[in-house]
Amino acid sequence: MYRKVLLIIGACLLFSFIHNTISAQKKSLAQKVDSVLRLMTLEEKIGQLNQYNDDQSATGPVTLDNDKIGQIKRGQVGSLLNCVGVARTRNWQKVAMQSRLKIPLLFGQDVIHGYKTTFPIPLGEAASWDLEAIQQSARVAATEASASGLHWTFAPMVDIARDPRWGRVMEGAGEDPYLGSLIATARVKGFQGNHLGDLNSVMACVKHFAAYGAAIGGRDYNSVDMSDRLLWEVYLPPFKAALDAGAATFMNSFNDLNGVPATGNSYLQRTILKGKWGFKGFVVSDWGSIGEMINHGNVKDGYEAAQSAITAGCDMDMESRNYKNNLAKLVVDKKINIALINDAVKRILLKKFELGLFDDPFSYSNEAREKAVLNNPEHAKIARSVAAKSIVLLKNDNNVLPLSKNINTIAFIGPLVKSLKQNKGFWDVEVPGVDSDYIVSQWQGLKNKVGANTNLLYAKGCEIEGTNKSGFAEAIAVAKQADVVILSIGERRDMTGEAKSRSNISIPGVQEDLLKALLATGKPVVVLINSGRPLVFNYTADHATAILYTWWLGSEAGNAIADVLFGDVNPSAKLPMSFPVSVGQIPIYYSHFNTGRPALNDANRIYNSSYNDLSIFPKYEFGYGKSYTSFEYSKLQLSMKKIKQTDTIEVSVTITNSGKYDGDEVVQLYLRDRVGSIVRPIKELKDFKKIFLKAGESKTIQFRIDKQKLSFYNQQLKWVAEPGDFDLMIGSSSRDIRVKDSFELVN
Ligand code: BGC
Repeated sequence: MYRKVLLIIGACLLFSFIHNTISAQKKSLAQKVDSVLRLMTLEEKIGQLNQYNDDQSATGPVTLDNDKIGQIKRGQVGSLLNCVGVARTRNWQKVAMQSRLKIPLLFGQDVIHGYKTTFPIPLGEAASWDLEAIQQSARVAATEASASGLHWTFAPMVDIARDPRWGRVMEGAGEDPYLGSLIATARVKGFQGNHLGDLNSVMACVKHFAAYGAAIGGRDYNSVDMSDRLLWEVYLPPFKAALDAGAATFMNSFNDLNGVPATGNSYLQRTILKGKWGFKGFVVSDWGSIGEMINHGNVKDGYEAAQSAITAGCDMDMESRNYKNNLAKLVVDKKINIALINDAVKRILLKKFELGLFDDPFSYSNEAREKAVLNNPEHAKIARSVAAKSIVLLKNDNNVLPLSKNINTIAFIGPLVKSLKQNKGFWDVEVPGVDSDYIVSQWQGLKNKVGANTNLLYAKGCEIEGTNKSGFAEAIAVAKQADVVILSIGERRDMTGEAKSRSNISIPGVQEDLLKALLATGKPVVVLINSGRPLVFNYTADHATAILYTWWLGSEAGNAIADVLFGDVNPSAKLPMSFPVSVGQIPIYYSHFNTGRPALNDANRIYNSSYNDLSIFPKYEFGYGKSYTSFEYSKLQLSMKKIKQTDTIEVSVTITNSGKYDGDEVVQLYLRDRVGSIVRPIKELKDFKKIFLKAGESKTIQFRIDKQKLSFYNQQLKWVAEPGDFDLMIGSSSRDIRVKDSFELVN
């Protein structure tokens, strides 16, 4: 007892020591920030709020500016983007050191799915449902980016996306707020590591605040119109999770939300983010989005645009120059209070202090470190493992996969077999002076895998786009000589991404015709589908022998695909978005309401909420993905069937690997609140566990259900759990529920 008390006192003392030290550090940083602020002229303050694109590359419409050097020397620029590499960032920092106050520049970059080592596109990585792997991939990206002079990544993108026509679905974690929140947390932790200022970390920038993913019609930059309930329940949670994980910065978004552009939206940035949520970091605009408020028709000119954005809580202007051109006059004209500018400057300076840049502006500029880190072979191993975990097995007729390593002849056919760059996906980073084209093609990956006795044949067959079928004959001839055909088809990597919305998301060109021709040979055809978004591919889905959805897997694509094809890795990924049968079903997501006239099946379409000409069910549902082995679910047990608001139910379920291969299963737990003052979705993901089971092995796993998991935003936007009946469903996908039960929440 005595020892216990001592231990508790010790723990309390330690806690209060750490707490005091942290608050002292924070206080002293705040004092340092104030002392710098006191020295600054208004022009220098506005300079800190100004971010320019470097001339290396551009990710938006460029504004020519011949006097960047002069402006940096005069302290009129606080940050640069699209400027990578130690040599280049060092040069710019040297220019900043010639300014009166020598305030260091921040270097930001879209490090979205890797830096030199490219990882799977974020949507693909989300399919792994492997939070550790996702965090690790962000960690590697941060290690490489920070070694290359960068302080800041414009990631993670946490926009919920339910419309695969929208090109930016590739950048997020899909349709679900629960999965999206956990992935947002993992990515922020990965990027920021232990703390800012640790040289292996970069600041995260959570984007795009907010609701950008709900652009009407899936058209990029389009308006968003949504209820508060939907905003709070579905679109905001991943932002809140990222904030709770310590995200240093936020980026606002191009869209208007219910008629008010997000960039000038006080409700989003002041009331929610900096008010209710207490965010202490800074908000950067999206590229030119302050000026774009004129096009939106929300402000008359740059003067009003700057006023609107700074008032609404946007701290830094990316590329629009409206802060630089108008803020001083707005202060003189008494249209804005200088306190707004001071607050924004302080937020930015604080991050520069936390990164240690005032102690050493060149601390991220070490050539030797850059060289060593960018050539670390461990990173390739991690990229290979994450890539293999991201591949989704959609179909596997006759268990054609995994392929035997003793197979005689394989025909590897398709326009993507030998391409290199395509595997990198949309947001790869070109690192000048570094071999940033390090990439294992799918062809090379297969060659690395097969033994000397396997004959590997190739034919391109066709291009990604176009109507030319002249390559079919050669492809058919090659297929006829093989025991198995592998066909690699899909999109070009730049068909999904920013400003890459498409109304037709079928597999382009004649690629599915090529599949048809190859199937006519009678050979089994394994199809690899490469894409940044859910595509529509009904012919392939219905006729191919097997399908692996490979997204864009990054530098190690070829090796990872070969690992899965031959069973060195048993696929375990699950779709983070619903895959539609037709664009006519979009937006499509699993957690919809029941409606007053629910359509329960496709047979009866009279007077219920269905289409006359189309199923309402997706081709592949959220959470779907097969394995080479099979899993059985049994012995669902709930510790209580009637609970009070303060109770927690312990749920246990036994999973058995009943197949021949070792493998991982993502066990998914869904809840349905039967009756709510606001109607509740037919199913909501509330927990999951990814577990590894050897062939024949069983494991019992536990989940906990507490009030938090039963709550939702009521009409007053209060987070409440309402008494009543709940269904609990556990399964292998959102449709494939294997065991279920129910319980009651009483007052
Ligand atoms: C995108 C942002 C990106 C920025 C800088 C914008 O067009 O919307 O996500 O971070 O450009 O590249």
